[in-house]
Amino acid sequence: MARALVTGCAGFIGSHLTEALLAAGHEVLGVDCFSDNYPAEHKQANLAAARDHDAFTFVGADLVTAGAERLLDGRDVVFHLAAEPGVRSSWGLRFDRYLRNNVRATQRLLEASARTPERRIVYASSSSVYGDSESLPTPEDATPQPLSPYGVTKLAAEQLCRLYHANHGVDAVALRFFSVYGPRQRPDMAFRRFCEAAVAGTPIEIFGDGRQTRDFTFVGDVVAAVQAAATADGVGGQAYNIGGGSRVSLARTLELLAGIAGRPLDVRRRERESGDVQDTGADISRAREALGFAPATGLPDGLRAEFEWVLDRHRAAQSAIASAG
Ligand code: UGA
Repeated sequence: MARALVTGCAGFIGSHLTEALLAAGHEVLGVDCFSDNYPAEHKQANLAAARDHDAFTFVGADLVTAGAERLLDGRDVVFHLAAEPGVRSSWGLRFDRYLRNNVRATQRLLEASARTPERRIVYASSSSVYGDSESLPTPEDATPQPLSPYGVTKLAAEQLCRLYHANHGVDAVALRFFSVYGPRQRPDMAFRRFCEAAVAGTPIEIFGDGRQTRDFTFVGDVVAAVQAAATADGVGGQAYNIGGGSRVSLARTLELLAGIAGRPLDVRRRERESGDVQDTGADISRAREALGFAPATGLPDGLRAEFEWVLDRHRAAQSAIASAG
């Protein structure tokens, strides 16, 4: 049994990871500041199952001001998933939040870990560090050239992990997640918005011509990779791609969704958003070798799981309205 700290435990990936760790018999201290990027009640709902566990303790705290030493005390492993997420909203004054919650928060954890080389830190990085990569699928040693301010902050925090490893022996490893999806996905993300619209029968907005591709990755596969990274040998100071294993156009995902929903979708084209890359694709050979990573859920099954989760929430909301009326 390990004593884990999960930062961002009420978020999409963090809540799934927390449940998986508890189910595997670990003790989890979860921290989350309930930042207002989406409604707190969604995050509370994400945490509901974990809160039922005796081995789970929740702390509401902001990593920049919380005093990282206190959170890290007695922890064998840290899963650092807390972040200001989202590519398209990282412009303008909101960049300050990205700097604070992605760069400064990570630096606080690393600084506080400088004298504890025995503690593994798994940092949630992003495919957005690559930008429009010169090669697809993209290997980890491709030149990182983020296209969004968000990507710059994820890369900066990843570099902090690397340099704290080099200078202070901090055992930090970065996993570059590629467009993670599944139940509890953030409300600003493509599949969540598409599923909500498909269920409600409202228009779907597609940014650009729909020919952009993504290496969509199911959340269960990401959770497996993150757990493997907690114990793998010799991964400190490294970065690994965590991708779903195939690259699909957005237009193709909408065809799949129409089949799952069993209805035609009302798709409206909008301007391409700045910061959005054209294509992402993960070369996962290093993760396969170092972490035993093998994505198990393909897009048809994963998208159906997300659609069904959205449908269940929709039905529950409808019946709550009906019984209140
Ligand atoms: C996602 C996450 O939001 C980031 O936090 C994460 O770091 C990143 O993946 C990553 O892989 O690094 P993104 O690929 O933009 O970013 O994820 P989606 O929200 O699933 O968007 C996929 C595509 O759908 C984008 O081209 C986006 O412009 C498009 N989209 C999104 C639409 O066409 N319509 C929408 O309503 C939403």
